Amino acid sequence: MVSDMRIVIIGAGQAAAQAVATLSSEGFAGNVVIIGDEPYPPYQRPPLSKAYMAGDFVRERLFLKPDAFYAESNCELRLGVTATAIDRNAKTIALSDGSSVGYDRLLLATGARVRPLPVPGANLPGVYYLRSIDDSDALQRHLTPGAKLAVVGGGYIGLEVAAVARKHGLEVTVIEAMDRLMARTASPHISAFYKDLHEGHGITIHLNAAATSCEGQSRVDAVATSAGRVAADFVVAGIGVMPNCELGVEAGLQCENGITVDEFGQTSDACIFAAGDCTCHPSIDGARVRLESVQNAIDQAKHAALAMIGKPAPYREVPWFWSDQYDIKLQIAGLVRAGDIAVLRGNPAARKFSVFHLRDGVVVGVEAVNAAPDYIVGRKLIAARARVAPERLGDVTIPAKQLA
Ligand code: FAD
Ligand code: APR
Repeated sequence: MVSDMRIVIIGAGQAAAQAVATLSSEGFAGNVVIIGDEPYPPYQRPPLSKAYMAGDFVRERLFLKPDAFYAESNCELRLGVTATAIDRNAKTIALSDGSSVGYDRLLLATGARVRPLPVPGANLPGVYYLRSIDDSDALQRHLTPGAKLAVVGGGYIGLEVAAVARKHGLEVTVIEAMDRLMARTASPHISAFYKDLHEGHGITIHLNAAATSCEGQSRVDAVATSAGRVAADFVVAGIGVMPNCELGVEAGLQCENGITVDEFGQTSDACIFAAGDCTCHPSIDGARVRLESVQNAIDQAKHAALAMIGKPAPYREVPWFWSDQYDIKLQIAGLVRAGDIAVLRGNPAARKFSVFHLRDGVVVGVEAVNAAPDYIVGRKLIAARARVAPERLGDVTIPAKQLA
């Protein structure tokens, strides 16, 4: 391994921190530079819509590594600076402060950004999004009992924010364009359970209701939807994210729904790698996917780091994800596609159940609600491409670990 090799990482998030950790544990003797446009060293985002926003998680715990870790790993953090262009011939990156930095290997770990609400009035003061520490802090200041919150988007962000706000005594309405909650990522059993859960906590949910405008004079006071008007003191829009792949596109890298990478995290340029939310990669079932999860950022960064130092190993981990809403933990593993067969295990009314998914008799997914053993076994079954009869999966008298 060349000891004077320089690896530059663009983006100071979950994937960046993991790449440095892997390089360090592999004994990489060169130097690493992280360029991050936020003012913070890499931090974890999941608590921003959960315990941190609720005030139950101290800020220091958000940071993924202590400051000393970067110095010990021979990693320079250049924060509050944006990478503006990549010159692939010169192997340099232009930065927003007018400087430039050269690389031998480059890792694009630029993540994703929120999709702006594409309706009139969306720029009014009082319309918020949630991606960063600063966004979460801004929302926390609005958690006043009795305040009216309209949440646009019944996905993870919207529902987690709704749960925290409701626990703080706000009047919350969720506006969702589709006919069920979390439709992008969860099965109908899960959507139905979460609708009941939130309504049971006193949240109003409008399905089949796309937001059409934000209303108000000097600040937002309502959201107009295809199903009526929702009064609001403030609005949180959680309508999905878009991959930050412009640097790659402008540099001529192959990009389609994210920066295209192979199973080693390598882009169409042999010296440039990418990991995390900004990528589109070959998944365990062969199809290309863009995942938005901590697991993907961590595992892909590990594999990209190994490949950058000449120790390639293909990324084949089973995807997993979680969401915390009230006292309910949802854990998901695998990739479910249209046409897969869903098998319910347990009773949703007991607030402890799971849904297994089969494709051609093979377990390809599990969604577990307060059912960690089902989730753990499900992950193993998916990794092993195991065949389990639907009757067995659905039979709660058979303990989860005997399903394997
Ligand atoms: P990021 O963590 O987004 O980091 C990318 C960084 O690059 C950002 O700081 C960005 O500003 C910076 N950047 C972009 N372009 C440039 C540039 N040109 N120059 C310099 N810097 C740049 N996942 C789960 O698995 N479970 C959860 O429960 C969960 N909850 C979440 C809750 C919230 C509120 C949010 C926002 C996300 C949540 N996620 C969750 C998703 C998870 O946090 C992301 O998948 C993960 O952060 C992706 O890591 P990343 O390194 O790819 O990108
Ligand atoms: N009006 C109402 N609902 C809308 C509109 C609209 N105009 N546009 C989109 N939606 C709905 C979608 O139907 C979807 O259910 O917003 C929801 C967005 O859900 P997700 O795609 O899951 O996105 P989001 O909740 O913003 O989460 C983004 O953050 O938790 C992390 O990594 C995780 O991928 C997730 C990311």
